[in-house]
Amino acid sequence: MNRARGRRTAASAVLVSLVVLAAVVGLAWPRIHGVLSVGTALERTQEPRPWSAAVAAPVLPSPTATPTPTFDLTRHSTTDPASPWVVVNKQHPLPAEHVPPDLVEVEGVPVRQVAAADVAAMLAAARAEGVALELRSGYRSYAEQAAARDAVEARRGFAHAERYSARPGHSEHQTGLAVDVDSGSTPSCNLQTCFATTPEGVWVAQRAAEFGLVVRYTEQNTAVTGYAPEGWHLRWVGRDLTAWMTANGVTSLEEALGVTGGPEYAGG
Ligand code: DAL
Ligand code: ZN
Repeated sequence: MNRARGRRTAASAVLVSLVVLAAVVGLAWPRIHGVLSVGTALERTQEPRPWSAAVAAPVLPSPTATPTPTFDLTRHSTTDPASPWVVVNKQHPLPAEHVPPDLVEVEGVPVRQVAAADVAAMLAAARAEGVALELRSGYRSYAEQAAARDAVEARRGFAHAERYSARPGHSEHQTGLAVDVDSGSTPSCNLQTCFATTPEGVWVAQRAAEFGLVVRYTEQNTAVTGYAPEGWHLRWVGRDLTAWMTANGVTSLEEALGVTGGPEYAGG
């Protein structure tokens, strides 16, 4: 009798234990399921995606993948005399007979049509800011350059002329894309080194590039251009190239466009 009661007591204890276990598992089920599900989800991310061939996967931005638009520095010829980017220096002359095809006048000064609007806009902008920028000269023919060079040489000697005045056929003025500007505020500095220190010289050094013009001969680039600094001599190349030069800290056309230069004349 006692033995039978003992077995019933043991059976009751097992039953109670099972009931308690079932209750605990039931209460804890959401958590247990969550732990098991993480493993499943991780495995899913490793699986091949059957939709990837048909639907483009999202492209995530990458900090190093931003494409930089490249500027085409070969867009125009540097040797065609009529090209906006023709480079004329002591190494690269123009044919003596070359005359620009499209000369017009800005304030009575001949320049190529392609440059005229920018030259006029530059003068207007300077004057609107109270800077007395004046246009002195533009296109010169081969014969006019020969006369100008002879005059400098007669007045200042050969060595000086070599640094400040191009031999005929080697002047940018023959392209119709170069202009010389004067200082209305300080005329004594016109065509002089001190032009760079006048309000007009300071203005063009800072602002001419906005209008597609380069101060062509500077202290920085004398070895490359082959000429002493001339703060008054501007060369039009267009706003896209001057913007590129400004952004890249390049001051000479020779360096920008990969053209040889220097103080020696081709052929001696
Ligand atoms: N003064 C510049 C160098 C020229 O004669 O073209
Ligand atoms: Zn000049």
